[in-house]
Amino acid sequence: MARRNAKLTVVGAGSVGTSLAYAALIRGVAREVALYDIDGPKVEAEVLDLAHGTQFTGASQISGGADPAVAAGSHLIVITAGAKQKPGQTRLDLAETNVGILRTLLPTLLEHAPEAIYCIVTNPCDVLTVAAQQISGLPTERIFSSGTVLDTSRLRRLLADRAGVSTASVHADIVGEHGDSEFALWSQARIGPVPILDWTSPEGDHFSYGELEQLTEAVRGAAYRVIEGKGATNYAIGLAGARIAQAILHDEHAVLPVSTVHRGYRGLDGVALSVPSVVTARGVEHVLDLTMSAAEERSLHASAEALLATQRTLGL
Ligand code: LAC
Repeated sequence: MARRNAKLTVVGAGSVGTSLAYAALIRGVAREVALYDIDGPKVEAEVLDLAHGTQFTGASQISGGADPAVAAGSHLIVITAGAKQKPGQTRLDLAETNVGILRTLLPTLLEHAPEAIYCIVTNPCDVLTVAAQQISGLPTERIFSSGTVLDTSRLRRLLADRAGVSTASVHADIVGEHGDSEFALWSQARIGPVPILDWTSPEGDHFSYGELEQLTEAVRGAAYRVIEGKGATNYAIGLAGARIAQAILHDEHAVLPVSTVHRGYRGLDGVALSVPSVVTARGVEHVLDLTMSAAEERSLHASAEALLATQRTLGL
């Protein structure tokens, strides 16, 4: 049920934040979408440009500016502000700079929107989620990140094209770090009701283990490929963020692979990474207890260790 007076604030009026605000307006995610950025002329121009199109997007209002007070009364705040990957950089390379930005930004936002749910999109989003939870003291369900929601969309697109079915009929998740150590939960993947390794095309061919590994590598490398060509990714992450916002502001109880700080889940402690979880108006309400193969269990802990190694360099 959509919250009638929902307010979404997007922090950061760069390509990711504006794409997310634009997608949220088109999807009718919130009654009001606010955009906040320290660059006044930029954010005001973005708000104007979006507002000029709201006749075509339904009932949403768009507001914003360079005063953090624009976030007041938000039910959900999505943070996209920060340094972005340059060609050749990994997401983890951005950790020190973007944790530093969070240390100033988050307390300011909490002053104006202490009751909001917070979603981190800025990378490395998993490490930043741990930092944000420590900085804010918010319960883990109210401070999370977009995690591998985008990577899962990339995987489902590839599988749908290969199998000749709609992405809505592909049930497969990328889990772990939103980054180089992410992996696919192949043991649980299905095309319709058919387990991925049992699936055969009308022509009689099927997915081999080698092909599944190639698909995983294609997802891991997807952002690098886009960044090489256009300098950044923005549309798909904007759409993924708007999808997450809808699950929260419409209290959907949707299962999405978002990233929360784990305390004991499958032996993980003090690290944030993505596992399919139930997303509701209260945030990330429940992390699913999944069946995993022994190899997947090892990949999950390897992903956690990659993140913890970066966290240790920052004292997180
Ligand atoms: C990507 C960025 C959002 O994967 O990390 O496109």
